Amino acid sequence: MISNKHEWTILMAFLFAVLFSHAAAYDPLDPTGNIAIKWDVMQWTSDGYVAVVTMTNFQMYRHIMAPGWTLGWVWAKKEVIWSMVGAQATEQGDCTKFKGNIPHCCKKNPTVVDLLPGVPYNQQIANCCKGGVVASWGQDSSAAVSSFQVSVGLSGTSNKTVRLPKNFTLLGPGPGYTCSQAKVVPKTVFLSPDGRRKTQALMTWNVTCTYSQLLASQKPTCCVSMSSFYNSTITPCPSCACGCQNKQRCVNTTSDSKLSSVVGLNNRVKDNSPLLQCTQHMCPIRVHWHVKLNYKKYWRVKIAVTNFNYLSNYSQWTLVAEHPNLNNISQIFSFVYKPLIPYNSRNDTGLFYGIKFYNDVLMAAGPDGNLQSELILEKDAETFTFKEGWAFPRKIYFNGDECMMPPPDSYPFLPNSANPNLLITKFPKLALIFCLLASTLAFL
Ligand SMILES: *[C@@H]1O[C@H](CO)[C@@H](O)[C@H](O)[C@H]1NC(C)=O
Ligand SMILES: *[C@@H]1O[C@H](CO)[C@@H](O)[C@H](O)[C@H]1NC(C)=O
Ligand SMILES: *[C@@H]1O[C@H](CO)[C@@H](O)[C@H](O)[C@H]1NC(C)=O
Ligand SMILES: *[C@@H]1O[C@H](CO)[C@@H](O)[C@H](O)[C@H]1NC(C)=O
Ligand SMILES: *[C@@H]1O[C@H](CO)[C@@H](O)[C@H](O)[C@H]1NC(C)=O
Ligand SMILES: *[C@@H]1O[C@H](CO)[C@@H](O)[C@H](O)[C@H]1NC(C)=O
Ligand SMILES: *[C@@H]1O[C@H](CO)[C@@H](O)[C@H](O)[C@H]1NC(C)=O
Ligand SMILES: *[C@@H]1O[C@H](CO)[C@@H](O)[C@H](O)[C@H]1NC(C)=O
Repeated sequence: MISNKHEWTILMAFLFAVLFSHAAAYDPLDPTGNIAIKWDVMQWTSDGYVAVVTMTNFQMYRHIMAPGWTLGWVWAKKEVIWSMVGAQATEQGDCTKFKGNIPHCCKKNPTVVDLLPGVPYNQQIANCCKGGVVASWGQDSSAAVSSFQVSVGLSGTSNKTVRLPKNFTLLGPGPGYTCSQAKVVPKTVFLSPDGRRKTQALMTWNVTCTYSQLLASQKPTCCVSMSSFYNSTITPCPSCACGCQNKQRCVNTTSDSKLSSVVGLNNRVKDNSPLLQCTQHMCPIRVHWHVKLNYKKYWRVKIAVTNFNYLSNYSQWTLVAEHPNLNNISQIFSFVYKPLIPYNSRNDTGLFYGIKFYNDVLMAAGPDGNLQSELILEKDAETFTFKEGWAFPRKIYFNGDECMMPPPDSYPFLPNSANPNLLITKFPKLALIFCLLASTLAFL
């Protein structure tokens, strides 16, 4: 039995690797998702130009969380950055050959980061200064944009002589993005705030960056566990679902003294590696799917997300689930739900996220490091069943990364003798009234 399980784990790991190496930068649940970086030249200057750079996150459920984005490129000629508004180059580089006016950055390959909230007004432009945090398009398209202005010198001064920057790189905040070459596109047209006048950029170029989970990390970063009312077995996350290489320095919560001493290390060097609570899966995030109740026309699921990372509060977190019955959610508690319909024929995938100022931050590991929600789904008599793990999700993503599922043969299954009709809750009418009441309240 044990060796059997082991084989499954290996097989799943293999399938996972094959799947991801082929999927590269294509996400079937978000086929058009990317980050577009647009440079609009607003003005030619005596030795260059002033451009507004706009980064738009068109990904439905992958945001850029703190500490934010880092954008890099390589200048085609000897360009320098005279000044920036709404962002800054992280290093000035060697500007010794300049006398008098010293550029903001003389590096051949500048690296730019957003400014922090609260900088003086004269250093701000629209959509800047959010510490590099950019929401996903599905969660909040108005916050899915980040902009800055750059004044470039020693460059071309017309659309015939300017050379496009090359080799764009984007960290969001970690690796995973691959950027295309810059391409001249039709000039952006701007509409004045009153909508009565149009202006246009002098020249526009675009860069498109796409995400690949395999580039971001060799191992998954979250896992899924399952349980149900009809079987007392809890199906845990697969062992070492996220790799056990961090096991040496994980926090064993059964020995409290160690906990406080290790968590005290908060201010150690920023190497981006998580400090995890010791678990058999060693994932920073676990998503638990519990099939909670069965009514006559409805069934009820509880979703719980747990953070095992002591070093991360996940703000603007997103959860994506794929399940055929998500086309018929009649009620959701505590989370916001938005159907994602990547292909017109299917409505089996949805985006969940927190309610602003209530549970839009998943706190670091510890007593507050978890979130939960319940869904009531309306049954479709044709497809609904508790058999063969149908009630469990096909896929789960947390913050845009796909979570490791348990092997299908370990899903809690229906006792052989059980008649699904006997499992129906004794008070279906009461449940229905409750649902109606809840949805009425939601409308008020
Ligand atoms: C350029 O980027 C903008 C968004 O920044 C996008 O709307 C537009 O479709 C892109 N154009 C091309 C030709 O890729
Ligand atoms: C430069 O701009 C002019 C005027 O808009 C246009 O006719 C020309 O095609 C542009 N050249 C390039 C290389 O984009
Ligand atoms: C730009 O990228 C190309 C291809 O990845 C590489 O060959 C080239 O050396 C890079 N150029 C610079 C200046 O980094
Ligand atoms: C945690 O510590 C307890 C006692 O100190 C030990 O028995 C247990 O094996 C440890 N657990 C892990 C996962 O290291
Ligand atoms: C998480 O947020 C809480 C409250 O805002 C803060 O006290 C704590 O230091 C944060 N933890 C981390 C690891 O950033
Ligand atoms: C998809 O499902 C959601 C909720 O389950 C529903 O509100 C929405 O109307 C459905 N959309 C389509 C196109 O079927
Ligand atoms: C939800 O399920 C009911 C019952 O099967 C069905 O009548 C209704 O059309 C479904 N709604 C959607 C959006 O599929
Ligand atoms: C519950 O599911 C497990 C598989 O995860 C199975 O081994 C067990 O037999 C099931 N329990 C019952 C009572 O059927």
